[in-house]
This record gives sequence, C-alpha cells and structure tokens, in this order.
Amino acid sequence: MPEIFINGQPVQAERGQSVLEVALANGFYIPYFCWHPELSVAGNCRICAVQVEGRSWAEIACNMPVTEGLRVLTDSDVVKEYRKSILQLLTLNHPVDCGICDKAGECKLQDYHYQYNGASSLSRDPKVRSTKFHALSERIVLDNERCILCSRCVRFTREISKSNALGIVQRGDVSLVRAAEDHSLDSDPYSDNIIDLCPVGALLSREFLYKARVWYLEPTPSVCPGCARGCTIRIWHRKPEWKLNSLDPRLNARIERVTPLDNDEVNGPWICNKARDLKQIFERPRAERAMQKGKPVELDAAIEAARRLLAAAKHPVALVSTWGSNEELDAFKRTLGARVDSLVKQDWGPQPGERLDDELLIRADKNPNSATACALFLDRDDPAQALPEDVDLVIVWGEGFDFGRVPRGARIVFLDAYLQPENGHADVFIPISIQTERRGHYTNFEGVVSAFEPCFTKKPSVADAEALFAALAAPAKVRT
Ligand code: SF4
Ligand code: SF4
Ligand code: FES
Repeated sequence: MPEIFINGQPVQAERGQSVLEVALANGFYIPYFCWHPELSVAGNCRICAVQVEGRSWAEIACNMPVTEGLRVLTDSDVVKEYRKSILQLLTLNHPVDCGICDKAGECKLQDYHYQYNGASSLSRDPKVRSTKFHALSERIVLDNERCILCSRCVRFTREISKSNALGIVQRGDVSLVRAAEDHSLDSDPYSDNIIDLCPVGALLSREFLYKARVWYLEPTPSVCPGCARGCTIRIWHRKPEWKLNSLDPRLNARIERVTPLDNDEVNGPWICNKARDLKQIFERPRAERAMQKGKPVELDAAIEAARRLLAAAKHPVALVSTWGSNEELDAFKRTLGARVDSLVKQDWGPQPGERLDDELLIRADKNPNSATACALFLDRDDPAQALPEDVDLVIVWGEGFDFGRVPRGARIVFLDAYLQPENGHADVFIPISIQTERRGHYTNFEGVVSAFEPCFTKKPSVADAEALFAALAAPAKVRT
C-alpha cells in the first residue's frame, strides 16, 4: 500500500488509485468535472489540477497514479492560479444564463466559479453562439452553449449503457455533442442518466424543463417498483414551506422528478428511464371511494361487508400482490394466511416496447417484491388457468388479474388504488394507499432489502393494506 502526502499529511493509498481518488477518499476536496468513479478517465476538463512538491507547474490529479512517497499540494498558489485560468477558459463563451437554467442550484460550474474564480469572461470578442434547444432525443434537450465538452455523456453511452448513442463532432470552439443518426439514444432505456451526469446545465429533461427550481423541492428516499432489481431512488416533490397557495393544490403533491439514490448493493449510481417516469404509474387517476357492487359506500361499511363475505365463505382464494411491501405481505400471512388459499400474482408484466432484461439493471420480472411474496406463499398464480370451480370468494389484491377467471357465482373483494372498470364490478371494492403514501420495504431478487418512505398523505377514504388485513380477519367490526 503506497503512502502519499497530501498537503503534507500522510495518507494510505491503494495501488492503481489516482491522486484524485485518494484525496476524495481522505477528505481533501479537489474539484472535478469530467472524472466520474464509474467512467473511464478522460482528463479533458483540467480543473482537478494539483502541484507535485518541487515542481513549478500544475498537473491533473484524476490521471496521476499514486507512487510511494508522492507529495502533492491541492491548494498552492500555482494550483489556485491554474484553476482560475481553467474556469476563465470554460466560461469564456458560456452564456451565463443561470437564471433560467434547470441546473442552477446543482451546477458544478456555478459552484466552482464562486469558489475558485469569481471573475467575468476575459474575452473582448462576441461570445461564440451555438444551438440552445437541440433535440438530442425524445426525452432530452441539449444546450450546446452551456456544454463544457467533458464527454461524460458520451462515455456513459459507450461504457455503461453501451448504446454508443453520442459523439462529439467538429473541433475547437465549434465542437458539439451530437446523437448518432440511428436515433439510438431514443431506444437507450438508461438515457436519462446523462442528465444527472452532466456537470452543467447542458443536458436537460424535457419532462422537467422549466417545471421547478430545485431549491423549492426535496427528495424522499424510495425504491423503484418497476422491476425486481428494486433500484433505490429519490422522489422529488415540493417542500411544504414552498407550498403553492394560489395555484392548483395538486402541484404541491406531485412527483416533480426522480433521480438515483446511489447504492453499491443494488444499482450503483444509475437507474433506468422507467423510474424517471414513475409519475406515469403513481399519478394515474386514483380510486378514492369504497364501493359495494358499484355503489359508493363509506370505507368502514365496505370493510365490514368484505369481512362478512370472508367469514361466510367456504373456499376463499386470495391473489396476493407482488407490489405489496414486506410489512403488508407479512401482515396478510399472519392475519389471513390460514383462512384463505393464497396465490402469488404477478401484478405487472412487460409493457409494449419495454426492454425485457439486460446485464446492467433491468429484470424480466416487472414487480418489486416477488422475492418476499414467493418466500411467504408457496403457490403461484397461473394466469392461463381458471380458478377452481368450488371457489366461492376471490380476494384480489392489486392489479394484473383477469376477472374472467373467477368461477360463476363466486363473490369478489377487490383491493386496489386506481380507477378502473373492474372496481364497480366487484361485490366489495376497497381503495388502498400507494407506495408514495406509506413507508415499507421491498426485497429485491438478490435478497437485498431497501426502504421507502412516504412523500404524500393518503386520503382518509383510502385504506392502508396492512391495517385492512387485520380488520378483515377480525371477528367483529374493527375501524382502520
Ligand atoms: S453535454 Fe454535459 S455531460 Fe455531455 S459533454 Fe457537455 S457538459 Fe459534458
Ligand atoms: S432497473 Fe428496474 S428497479 Fe431499476 S430503475 Fe429500472 S425498472 Fe426500476
Ligand atoms: S476531472 Fe481531471 S481533467 Fe477533468
């Protein structure tokens, strides 16, 4: 293990590490744009300069391997002057339109400018203009004037998603990031990671464009339910102290964006675009009224009716949701498991055009908690089979069930969160909360347990499945 000295202090390094990696791991901050721990070293932004003691010049730390006894300075006058000149170069033609840039508040160029430079562009010539709203793909817009040509986005598509969808064309101050003509960025299911990777506001999400300033938002840790990988994510929503009073109140309780929650055990720093689009799942029209045979009733009345149906049934069967949390699945098993025949249901399957699976993250099982459901309940539902003729009550928990499989004459209790025609056909329909309204855990296909937290409040007319199961199993009426 080589020992090196950073600003005179000895630190232990590992062979093969760069000075930048050792410095960051030991609490010495060195600025960087193009370097990323998961990408190859490009060494093109030059901001990560350090000075080797005894030399009169600055050199980049991201491409400097450690050697025994190496002594570097991260904050010498030579380094400070060098960083300042690099920032002047990077902002020479920069439009400085931070006031309208979605990256403002999270932009490394903005932060470093204030920390290490603070001076205006030196150029007396008009700034070189470039394309401002270049449609890089259906999801991503590129502002070439803000691009610092760090090549992180290009390397991501070559090394991580392997779509080879991006390149840099032309030379000098007319260099441009451009998409391959075969539109491979459109079909890259990981494309939106380049928006996070871009250290400046050059790559922007069309969905999030000009929707919110990031300092009005806060993230809630969560888990993507889009497949059995269970990537950990941050769901961004409006801070309560920045609540909008005069606009549509729904704006205060909606998903503004989703970003990865770095997790070495599950997804590293990446997620696929399905997680970015979670609002398409969670913000579908919600079912908020309980019903009996299509007629709205109070939640307690519906629970009591369902409880009576269960108490009277001779052969009840339950379709157990693979979108239930560990806590809910455990509650179901404890309260109803001995009373009903439980079949594990796959709530979601692959959607048209969706990638089935790959070697990076995406799994063929499009449900977040098949692992726990299958561990607790032995029998799997077979969607191609009708349910046994003697079944007289079917409890359907969650989506993905074909109600045509219910035996003639059997009663139906349906627990779900969204508006759909089947709700009105059930003998009893009970609306339940969704993941963004409760806390819980999912177990992914490799056995890793990840937690999700609530970001919004459920309506009082909507039940929490965990409490609901106890009420259904109770001998007498229980309020939830
Ligand atoms: S678009 Fe962003 S990530 Fe890509 S090269 Fe430019 S600055 Fe780097
Ligand atoms: S790989 Fe699966 S769990 Fe991860 S973000 Fe994509 S859909 Fe969600
Ligand atoms: S971070 Fe080292 S050159 Fe860009």
